[in-house]
Amino acid sequence: MANKAIVGNWKMNGGTATLAEVASLLAELHETEAQVTICPPATLISRIAEMAVGTSLKVGAQDCDDHASGAHTGDISAAMLADAGAECIIVGHSERRAAHSETDQMVARKARLAWDAGLAAILCVGESLEDRESGAEIQAVQRQLLASIPNPDTGEPGDLVVAYEPVWAIGSGKTPSPEQIGEMHRAIKDSIKEPLSGKIAKAPILYGGSVSGANAKEILSVPEVDGALVGGASLKARDFMPVIKAAG
Ligand code: PGA
Repeated sequence: MANKAIVGNWKMNGGTATLAEVASLLAELHETEAQVTICPPATLISRIAEMAVGTSLKVGAQDCDDHASGAHTGDISAAMLADAGAECIIVGHSERRAAHSETDQMVARKARLAWDAGLAAILCVGESLEDRESGAEIQAVQRQLLASIPNPDTGEPGDLVVAYEPVWAIGSGKTPSPEQIGEMHRAIKDSIKEPLSGKIAKAPILYGGSVSGANAKEILSVPEVDGALVGGASLKARDFMPVIKAAG
C-alpha cells in the first residue's frame, strides 16, 4: 500500500504571517512517510511552492474556474494555478457546491481542466445530513461522484483523488464511525471500478470532515482510507503534525 496522503485545506485563511507555519511543518516532515500537501489560498501558492523546493511537501489549489481562459474577471484557471506551482486542485468542495451553486457538471469541467493542465484533481463528494438520516447516503454519494467525473469523451483521464467528506462532518467536530467510513469508501471504490478507465478505478480515496490529532489514527487505520483531507486542523503546524504523524 502506498504512503497515505494528508492534504491540508486552508480555505479562506492565511497570509504572509502563516508562512511561519509552513516553515515549522517543513522542519518536521522528515519524521513522516506520509505524502503531505497544503492547499493554501491562491495568493500563497507560489510562495509556498518556493519554500517546498527540494522537500517532499506539495502545494495545491482549492478551486479553479470551469473555463480555460478568457473574460472571467476575478477567476483563476487551472493552467494559471499550475504555473504558480500547484500540483493538484480540489474541485467540488461542498462549500463551493453550496455557496457558489456549483453543479456536478461544473465540477466535472473543473476536473477536466485540472487534468488538461497536468494537475491531479481532488474531487470532493459527500452526503447531506438528510441523506444520511434517511439511509440514502451511499446512493447520494455514488450518484454525485459518477456525475462529477469528467466524461471519457472529453479526453484522457489524468490523476484522480476522491475525497469523501460528509457535509455534516465538515467543521462540526462530528465524524462517521470507522465502520461507516469503511463502508462508504468501499462503495466509492466499487462505483469507479467498472465503467471507467483503469486509472480512475485506482484513485486513492481520502476521508475529510473534522479530522484532528485526536481521531486521525482511528480514521487512517480503516483499511479503505488512503489518507485525509483536513481543514481546521491544518492551519497550525502544532495541530497538523499529529494528523500527519498518525499517517505513518
Ligand atoms: P474540517 O474541514 O477538517 O475543518 O472539518 C474539512 C474540509 O472541509 O475539507
